[in-house]
Amino acid sequence: MSEIKVDKKQFNGVVYSRFSDVPVESIASIFVTDSAIEGILSKCKWYTERVTQEEVTAKLALLINLLTKSERINVLDYGGGLGQLLISLEKHLLSKNRVIWEVFDTEEMIGIAKERIKGKNNLFFHKNIQEVKKADILFFRQSLQVLENPVKILTDLTHLFHPKIIFMSGVPAGKNEDYVSLVLSAQENKGHPCWIFNEERLLSSVNRLGYSLIDKFSENITINLSNFPDKFQMDDERKNHARGYIFLREGAEVGL
Ligand SMILES: C[S@@+](CC[C@H](N)C(=O)[O-])C[C@H]1O[C@@H](n2cnc3c(N)ncnc32)[C@H](O)[C@@H]1O
Repeated sequence: MSEIKVDKKQFNGVVYSRFSDVPVESIASIFVTDSAIEGILSKCKWYTERVTQEEVTAKLALLINLLTKSERINVLDYGGGLGQLLISLEKHLLSKNRVIWEVFDTEEMIGIAKERIKGKNNLFFHKNIQEVKKADILFFRQSLQVLENPVKILTDLTHLFHPKIIFMSGVPAGKNEDYVSLVLSAQENKGHPCWIFNEERLLSSVNRLGYSLIDKFSENITINLSNFPDKFQMDDERKNHARGYIFLREGAEVGL
């Protein structure tokens, strides 16, 4: 019997101006489904066995290794799920005991994380940001874009913590104007709203908070925007690689 291959789209192809324009009946929880959680847990196992690194963990490990030469640091992993980034990063850290990993996520995700991830004395889960006392690195991977007001969150967090570094990765950003679309869940035609940012505006917003860009990179992950016209593509070639940005607080130093 021949199988028919269905080309599952990543987004629903509809363009909205903001999260509140997305009809409520199209919204579904996609991050805390049983299959999503099992997927993260099996990836964690794979990460612990993997020897090589992705660019994000390599860059983050270098930064953390530089910083922890002279100080103990706290990383705030915003939208960090079950702390999967720490699991993939840990073995590349030279002074593990100088790093505290603080994951902030939704109440639902934090409930699951506290139940499923146990026995790590450097990993803490929070559903209230007030519980986090310190953040030297503010880190986002594939999470900035799923926040309704990302620039407000960035502003509030920088005022609260004055992090030395802001590290964003897996960011859909390009020459397009800012827009919102719906990332579809694997099972149905519903999903979670997601920003596709205008890169220049995003970078200027962070600059205005007193941070300078020190690194910018394209990642080995592509955003499937095949069901959008040209003006909604992130680049002219329609390649749409997710992007990463590292910012340093003006006046701060990462010592060598
Ligand atoms: C695509 S996942 C990325 C997870 C993780 N950062 C990683 O790279 O593996 C997006 C994450 O953002 C979280 N999230 C969604 N809305 C959020 C919100 N309003 N505040 C905090 N986290 C949120 C989800 O629960 C999920 O863990």
